[in-house]
Amino acid sequence: MPHHCAVIGNPIAHSRSPEIHAGFAAARGIELQYDRILAADEADFAAIVARFFADGGRGLNVTVPFKQTAYRLCGRTTPYAAAAEAVNTLWMENGQLCGDNTDGRGLCLALQEHGITLKNARILILGAGGAARGVILPLCEANPAVLHLANRTLAKAEAVIASQQPLTAVPLAAYSLNDLARLDAYDLIINATSTGLSNEPLALPANLAHCNSRAYDMQYGKTTPFLAWAAAQQITAHDGYSMLVAQARLSFQQWFPL
Ligand code: ATR
Repeated sequence: MPHHCAVIGNPIAHSRSPEIHAGFAAARGIELQYDRILAADEADFAAIVARFFADGGRGLNVTVPFKQTAYRLCGRTTPYAAAAEAVNTLWMENGQLCGDNTDGRGLCLALQEHGITLKNARILILGAGGAARGVILPLCEANPAVLHLANRTLAKAEAVIASQQPLTAVPLAAYSLNDLARLDAYDLIINATSTGLSNEPLALPANLAHCNSRAYDMQYGKTTPFLAWAAAQQITAHDGYSMLVAQARLSFQQWFPL
């Protein structure tokens, strides 16, 4: 009998998770059935999760727009999930639904693989939604010099910083996108806005980059306006596929410990 895992979201047809997890399973000699599941809404999501584990399912990945719902359903969560208030990895333990958020640690591993140093770096995150929130604490654990969040809506960035600053000694600050033209350059600029999905323009000033700055877009699979900006600055940039694989590896290790 294969172990049963799946990813739930809406939309879900585009998800690359099945092929990524099939690779991990093959490497470990584990028989795995990994499905894509479309949930219509929050109630449908909750019902699918309950049925999946009642039927003996091993683990679920959760993607947009249900990560916050998944967090609320859990009886126990890791500190990373609590800081993000979002869960991307679910499993059952002693009859309790448990959740982790591997996105931020996945991002850090991906950045390491790209040879990007986080210690003492000046880091800028663009965006203040769920994607940005989920990566702040793991990035801070690598001891950057500063971590700044810039968002179209300043109040949202300020609220995220206010919730995360008590969790870290790294100096955090919130800015609006309009403030960026007066800021010093950053060593690492991470795009966590949804502009790549919607293909909306993201106007960024040139002063954000110095010649050794690195850029990382949490979106994958397309040339986003952010990646186009990085190319125009002639700085090295990466899309989010490496983060997708790394966060998936951490989920897989949760379900199938070594
Ligand atoms: P996710 O869960 O992927 O983070 P989200 O919570 O909807 O999605 O957040 C989307 C982020 O992209 C927000 O920071 C949003 O800015 P606002 O808070 O001002 O809405 C940002 N975003 C979306 N469209 C944008 C645009 N055209 N220009 C700049 N930022 C944009």
